[in-house]
Amino acid sequence: MKAIVITKYGPPDVLRLEEVEKPVPRDNEILVRVHATPVSFGDTLVRNLKDVTPKKFHMPLLFWLFAKMYFGFRKPRITILGSEFAGEIEAVGKDVRRFRKGDAVFGYRGARMGAYAEYLCLAENEVVAPKPANMTYEQAAAVPYGAIMALNMLRKIDLRPGHRVLVNGASGGIGPAVVQLAKSHFGANVTGVCGTPRLDYVRSLGADAVIDYSKEDFTAGNETYDLIVDILGKSPFSRVKRSLTPKGRWLLVSFKTKKLVQMLWTSLSGGKKVICALSSEKAEDLVFIKGLIEAGKFTAVIDKCYPLAQAAEAHRYAGSGHKKGSVVITAGNSGVANANQC
Ligand SMILES: NC(=O)c1ccc[n+]([C@@H]2O[C@H](COP(=O)([O-])OP(=O)(O)OC[C@H]3O[C@@H](n4cnc5c(N)ncnc54)[C@H](OP(=O)(O)O)[C@@H]3O)[C@@H](O)[C@H]2O)c1
Repeated sequence: MKAIVITKYGPPDVLRLEEVEKPVPRDNEILVRVHATPVSFGDTLVRNLKDVTPKKFHMPLLFWLFAKMYFGFRKPRITILGSEFAGEIEAVGKDVRRFRKGDAVFGYRGARMGAYAEYLCLAENEVVAPKPANMTYEQAAAVPYGAIMALNMLRKIDLRPGHRVLVNGASGGIGPAVVQLAKSHFGANVTGVCGTPRLDYVRSLGADAVIDYSKEDFTAGNETYDLIVDILGKSPFSRVKRSLTPKGRWLLVSFKTKKLVQMLWTSLSGGKKVICALSSEKAEDLVFIKGLIEAGKFTAVIDKCYPLAQAAEAHRYAGSGHKKGSVVITAGNSGVANANQC
């Protein structure tokens, strides 16, 4: 089968199309013919991991060390990237009960990756679910990472209808899912913060208001929020707390050790709280999200699609600062022959 293989870390050109052995499913595994896989934050991070210093890494030093050990310090140990996918089941192992040959599925592999390929084998109890009927493979592939992370994060908070939520980083992988879930599932009033080119995109996801971070610092305004979800967690708490209601919470998706100390400190004080959240991934969450998609409460916006052979181009575009939505790599029978056809 064809796959995009990396043998060294570096810029998009390290992504090479190669012929590799087609995987064979074990008794508890499904073999998926991958139709689509997006360029995610994790894919670009791992592709360039050699250059990712502890300072550039948005999580504590220990997490950086684990990432380096798991993915390889000098050269990649995981040679096929791709943590999300949508495709069709081509074969199942003899013990598989949840799925049948021919089922359309979508899923999340996290750090196991492997979706930049024509075929992928995974255990039936991994994070995989039937594809939403009202989505294309390209759209479905772009859902799992952001949606699962966002759902897990928001479930840590007692979010109520009418609560005011600000999402700082509303236009990347996780932020759009936070905006949509906070708005249409939890009934909150949502403000999204992003860069200039993506203001309309974030509005289109249902945000009630948008703020351009290159023109306005939300912590300098008079608005206050019950919840601030911070995707990159770069601001100091001393500034953010001015924008929180008296019982407001600052939910950090990315955090350094100092923020963990602040979380401990503020958890004892009873007022405005810092929450450093870690997400877990479960298949039932993906099934829940499929339900929201089919009920018209959650969507995925695709900016561009690239065929598997142009994965390097897809990474270049994803890193260009121009994208407004997901960039998706297509394989198998999707029919995408050139960039943009999706
Ligand atoms: N806690 C967990 O369990 C967990 C799980 C997964 C990932 N993570 C962390 O989540 C982060 C990746 O999230 P992601 O995939 O959503 O990232 P992403 O796709 O790179 O998106 C980053 C977002 O931040 C925005 N942004 C960039 N500079 C900004 C600034 N100065 N002010 C405000 N917003 C700014 C971007 O806006 P524009 O694009 O519009 O400029 C974009 O919306 C990583 O740090 C990762 O370690 C944590």
